[in-house]
Amino acid sequence: MPTFIVLLGPPGVGKGTQAKILSKKTGLAHISSGDLFRENLKNQTELGKLAQTYMTKGELVPDDVTVAMVKDRLTRPECKMGAILDGFPRTPAQAQALETMLQDFNGQVDSVPFIAAGEDVLLERLTSRWTCRAEGHVFNAKTNPPQVTGKCDFDGSELYQRDDDKEETVKNRIKVYFNQTSPLISYYQNHGKLVEINGAQSIDRVTQDLMAALNK
Ligand code: AP5
Ligand code: MG
Repeated sequence: MPTFIVLLGPPGVGKGTQAKILSKKTGLAHISSGDLFRENLKNQTELGKLAQTYMTKGELVPDDVTVAMVKDRLTRPECKMGAILDGFPRTPAQAQALETMLQDFNGQVDSVPFIAAGEDVLLERLTSRWTCRAEGHVFNAKTNPPQVTGKCDFDGSELYQRDDDKEETVKNRIKVYFNQTSPLISYYQNHGKLVEINGAQSIDRVTQDLMAALNK
């Protein structure tokens, strides 16, 4: 049976950083809804242009288009063993849609690590984040700098600062997270799937705690 892991947590807590590490360690595919939208935007698809109107304000893209995009990705061969979902689901309606689509793959959400940290940590991390153009690898000017300034350690592509990492937009993303996404904490707790992880620790310590939670 395939394995599906949902990484839940506020903007900037380290979902993308940890999902990339876990994907390498476990061989499961990494699906980031935010990366998929940014890829569409780079290619100037209709979906990308639509998503941009929400992303620049720090609002959520409507559920129907988001669900369709993730479903399309889940049907690809690289997801046969399962996937680590990063940034999806983000609303109760998306969580329900996910349950339904995983039934088609004879799967279910197996574990939901909820990575938590205070708002000051999130703001600090996002305003000093640098993201790679090619594959969305993330670095941090203060906590996790690249070996060569402005270049990705993994693929050498250019590093840029995301449009939605401006302080005002970050504050709105955090507000949207509390209003629309945080109800998923109790949703997955009630399903017995939630494991809380302290996201304020170093990257390595968070990975250790995640691996311990997944091996249980
Ligand atoms: P998305 O791209 O998913 O952004 P997000 O959830 O706001 O999360 P981030 O990517 O900003 O943070 P992260 O948790 O991945 O942290 P990271 O590892 O980069 O979504 C963007 C937008 O797309 C949304 O606002 C919405 O418009 C739309 N969207 C996406 N999904 C959607 C959905 N399902 N429904 C509707 N709309 C959707 O780390 C952050 C920084 O901290 C980095 O610099 C990193 O190097 C550093 N860092 C990480 N961990 C540590 C650590 N332990 N110690 C020190 N530094 C660390
Ligand atoms: Mg991310």
